[in-house]
Formats: sequence, C-alpha cells, structure tokens
Amino acid sequence: MGLSKKILVTGGAGFIGSHVVRRFVNNYPQYEIVNLDKLTYAGNLANLTDIEEKPNYRFVKADITNVIEISDLFKNEDFDAVIHLAAESHVDRSISDPTAFVMTNVIGTVNLLNAAREFWKDDYATKRFYHVSTDEVYGALGDTGMFIETTSYDPHSPYSASKASSDHFVRAYHDTYGIDIVISNCSNNYGSHHFPEKLIPLAINNIKNNQPVPVYGKGENVRDWLWVEDHARAIDVIFHEAKAGETYNIGGHNEWKNIDLIHLLCNIMDKKLGREVGTSAKLITFVTDRAGHDLRYAIDSSKLQNKLNWVPSLQFEEGLTKTVEWYLENEEWLNNVTSGNYQTYYNTQYNNI
Ligand code: NAD
Ligand code: TYD
Repeated sequence: MGLSKKILVTGGAGFIGSHVVRRFVNNYPQYEIVNLDKLTYAGNLANLTDIEEKPNYRFVKADITNVIEISDLFKNEDFDAVIHLAAESHVDRSISDPTAFVMTNVIGTVNLLNAAREFWKDDYATKRFYHVSTDEVYGALGDTGMFIETTSYDPHSPYSASKASSDHFVRAYHDTYGIDIVISNCSNNYGSHHFPEKLIPLAINNIKNNQPVPVYGKGENVRDWLWVEDHARAIDVIFHEAKAGETYNIGGHNEWKNIDLIHLLCNIMDKKLGREVGTSAKLITFVTDRAGHDLRYAIDSSKLQNKLNWVPSLQFEEGLTKTVEWYLENEEWLNNVTSGNYQTYYNTQYNNI
C-alpha cells in the first residue's frame, strides 16, 4: 500500500470507531479518512467535534445494510482500504432483538465485502479489508485458560453469533476471492465516549446521579478490560503491518470480576465527587442475571505483543480514573445521550429498579 490512502472507516461515530477515526486523522495527515455511519442511537457526531474540520476527514451518513448506498459509495470513491467497525454492539439488545444484529452485523458486513469484491477486483493486492471483531466469538471460559487466535468459535449470545458469522464471511472472501483481509478480536474496551448502556459508563452515570448500580447475578462474571486508545493503537499497527488473511487477538491482560470492578469504580467516584468512602458502594444492586451470561473472557495477546510489539499502555486504575474524569467533565455529552429513548430502554431493561 502506498503512502497516501483513502480509507473508509465504518461506525466511526460510535465508541471505538470515533477513537480510531481520531487517531488516523491526527496521525496520518496524508490519508483521507471517510467516516461512514448510520448514526443509530449509538452513533454520535459529538464524539468527533475535535477533528470534524480537519481537511483529511469527511463524514458520510449511510447504512451498511443498504446495497445501493454502499455500492454507489465504492463506485464514486476509490477506497484503498476499509476499517469496518459499524455494528450493533450491545449483548442485552441482541437478546431483545436478534434480527437487528443479523441485519447490520452479518448482512451489512457481506454488503461491504461484496462492494470490495466488485470494485477492487482488478487490484486486490493493493487493497485491505480490516474487520474489527470481538473476543465474544470464542464463547466462555471457565476459571482458567485464555483465548488464542486458533480457539474454536463457540458464540452464545445473538450478538456474538452475529459477529462470529461476520468473521467467517470475511475469511471466506479471502479464501474464495483473494481479498486482502485482516481480523482482530478484542476484549472489552473502556474509556471516553462509551455509550452508557455498557457496564462502566452506565455505572458512572448512575453513581453520579445517586441511582442504583445494577449488577447481574452475583457479579462473579469476569471480563478483560482494555483502554480504548490502546485498542485504536493496536488497530493502527495491525492495519499497517499484518499479513493478508491474519487474525490478531487484542486484550489488556486485565481480568476483573464485575463486582470487584464496580467496587473500584465506586471508590474512585467517591474520591472524585468528594463523598465519604463507601457511599457509592451502597448503590450496588444485584439484579436478575443476563440470559446465557458468559462466565469469563480472557485474551492471550502474545501474538500481537511478540510479532508487532504492541503492549497495553495504561494500568486499569489509572485508565478508570481518566474515564471517570472524562464523564464528569463532559456532563452535556452524558445528558444528551441519556435523554429521550435512553430512558425508555433503561426502564424496560432494568424494570425500574
Ligand atoms: P458502538 O455501538 O459504540 O458503535 C457502533 C457504531 O456503528 C455506531 O456509531 C452506529 O451508529 C454504527 N452503526 C450501527 N448500525 C449501522 C449500520 N447499519 N450502518 C452504518 N452504521 C451503523 O460500538 P463499539 O463499542 O464502538 O464497537 C465497534 C466495533 O468494535 C463493533 O464491531 C464491535 O463488535 C467491536 N468490538 C467492541 C468491543 C467493545 O468493548 N465495545 C470490544 C471488541 C470489539
Ligand atoms: P457489557 O458492558 O454489556 O459488555 P459485554 O456484555 O460485551 O461483556 O457488560 C460487561 C459485564 O457486566 C458483563 O458480564 C455483564 C455485566 N453487566 C452488569 O452486571 N450490569 C449491567 O447493567 C450491564 C450493562 C452489564
């Protein structure tokens, strides 16, 4: 791939996508970054106000499930690469409405692959399709072990099943048509601009507002948390250096039981809000467990560390403190995304706890 590139980033107004767009726009002024997003409830252009005026950045509102919109875009723009993040991303929503996940995550991905197949066919060797995926495709671990790149797929939720399916299609287009693809499977991310349906930003918002903090089951489930900017940096390295057809696991080597994480967060919030230590923890409320709740995720990212020299940069307590500070300093962002439809979602999901 040459020095200057036109890159289509899908899902760039969401949580991780906005960090990827910001990183590429700022670090590669010679690249043209086209951010395609449907702006669902999870997409928010306010995530990118700091770079929206940059000359190497453009936003296109489009839906990846719309064949005509996607094929017109590929016809009109000579993209060198796609970094595909657009997705329905929340497990609980996938339990209530699986079809939306099949549409965007499976059909939407196949539409993008078809456009790449059609418009890149004379030039596959100079193009790249980077598919951003999740560790949830590997299923659940018991108390020991870690996911490696060759772990068999065993998804349990409609979300992870749809991501697993999309991963298979991406590999199939490499094996069948010769498209240059790379896939990365990452553990749970945290950081700024995270939509407060996910555990950490939801808990920050509730603690701030003195509302109950819902913990599913007994809070025994384990997740491996990674600072979102470390994920964006890993995507940058893999995009530029991975061989065609390769998969990389990305993770923080940072496993936390949900209940321990929430206690740490409560302590940080007590400090930041000037509350007596122990005040926020009183908000912890155990609620009915998630159906099919995967017990434990843990990523072995040694391939990425050894081959491409990537290591996570932040300790969890430091990253969590920065995250809390961002939410407290960006009250307007938080108020905007938690108004309107969010309240309806919240009341249905949590039965007005
Ligand atoms: P997000 O929900 O914050 O953002 C998703 C974005 O996709 C939103 O901006 C939304 O508007 C857009 N989108 C949804 N449907 C679309 C459609 N049909 N057409 C165009 N745009 C559409 O999600 P996220 O947490 O930033 O995740 C981004 C990607 O990373 C996803 O593919 C997800 O599976 C993957 N991932 C997420 C995590 C995590 O911890 N959040 C971990 C590993 C992998
Ligand atoms: P989440 O942030 O939804 O990410 P994922 O399901 O993709 O791992 O959830 C992280 C963990 O927190 C998961 O084990 C479910 C749990 N959880 C709660 O206990 N309460 C909540 O309100 C939410 C949203 C999640």
